[in-house]
Amino acid sequence: MTAARTQVGIVGAGPAGLLLSHLLDLAGVESVVLESRSRDEIEHTLRAGVLEQGTVDLLTSIGVGERLAREGFVHHGIELRFAARGHRIDLTELTGGKAITVYAQHEVIKDLVAARLARNGAIVFEAKGVSVHGIESASPTLRYRQDDREETLACDYVAGCDGFHGVCRGAMPDAVRTEYLRSYPFGWFGILTEAPPSSHELIYALHERGFALVSTRSPTIQRMYFQCDPHDRVEAWTDDRIWSELALRLETLDGFRPHMGPIIQKGIIGMRSFVCEPMQHGRLFLAGDAAHIVPPTGAKGLNLAVADVRVLAAALADRYTTGHDERLRAYSATALRRIWKAQRFSWWMTSMLHQFPENNVYQRRLQLAELDYVTSSRAASTALAENYVGLPFE
Ligand code: FAD
Ligand code: DHB
Repeated sequence: MTAARTQVGIVGAGPAGLLLSHLLDLAGVESVVLESRSRDEIEHTLRAGVLEQGTVDLLTSIGVGERLAREGFVHHGIELRFAARGHRIDLTELTGGKAITVYAQHEVIKDLVAARLARNGAIVFEAKGVSVHGIESASPTLRYRQDDREETLACDYVAGCDGFHGVCRGAMPDAVRTEYLRSYPFGWFGILTEAPPSSHELIYALHERGFALVSTRSPTIQRMYFQCDPHDRVEAWTDDRIWSELALRLETLDGFRPHMGPIIQKGIIGMRSFVCEPMQHGRLFLAGDAAHIVPPTGAKGLNLAVADVRVLAAALADRYTTGHDERLRAYSATALRRIWKAQRFSWWMTSMLHQFPENNVYQRRLQLAELDYVTSSRAASTALAENYVGLPFE
């Protein structure tokens, strides 16, 4: 067994863990990241694609925005489509100049890993069986296995950035934790296709048959999603069936058809809303999906992880540079104010844009009235736009 020591032990090399490690390094605080998967796996797992303005600004300000600026797509609006008509929400005009950038999460991961390694950052890939000990003591430890060796990492603080299925949340005693959960009776079927863009902006569509979303990845690769049964099997969806479903749900009076091409990736994503309160106990701090999940309709998951670690990194830096721990003690309360607003927005977008099996015809008409209101009232469009581009960090 070998033992090592660092200031902040970080579990998970997702966007939360990697960004936290980088922000701490820039503030002169040491950390070690323990990641259960390989570098190749984390750099190739397909997930979110929309970055808020604040996320882009932060990545740019810390020197991780170069490829993002070159290869990301800045979008100034989105389309809401219902009753076979498209309605544009002008994000930039409604928010005083803000926009979103479409840039895949695994590209952000690649950029962050490269930035960490360029500064000799410590990331232990394939760290197996991570367990968390002594969070109520002054020196918690992380134990794990690597290449069949038992390792121990002693630290001052532990950051649980290990996603929804990680081990850190469970290291907080049950008695101090309250968990809020809402499940949705549907999932998203996601595809990647080799085709030109079907639209120059994202389309969020509600159709009698369910929700559909047109997004993009590059001039030659497109990302699309549609509402499905969460228990459906990927194999049940042939390419032909996928394209006819998308064409139906995206139809417009003027004959819109998505550009079709070979489908190179298919998968089903479950949908839930979840919050764990508080997000800290003793010397353990949770950030990102380890503490909360949103359904993807508002494109908030990755951006929330970024917002959490921004608060956490500043609080830890404050602790090390001034010796004061007020910001660290306030971390959970500070982060949760923004998290609950993103929970509300993600729930609202999801409710407005999906068919719920339990909804009767009256509720369906209300959904259409809401979409009509949101797309015709400047006040309501502005509320959507300011949430979609991202609320202020604090
Ligand atoms: P994660 O990205 O989950 O990172 C956690 C890391 O910790 C992982 O690398 C994991 O391997 C590692 N880890 C886990 N357990 C351990 C352990 N015991 N020991 C060591 N390491 C561990 N959001 C959107 O906005 N739009 C989308 O379209 C969208 N699609 C998604 C699709 C999927 C399949 C999933 C799961 C999520 C999706 N999300 C989406 C949400 C978004 O990707 C997440 O909110 C974001 O990844 C959160 O980042 P994170 O760093 O907190 O967690
Ligand atoms: C994408 C994902 C989302 O959840 C969303 O709301 C918009 C776009 C995407 O993967 O491109």
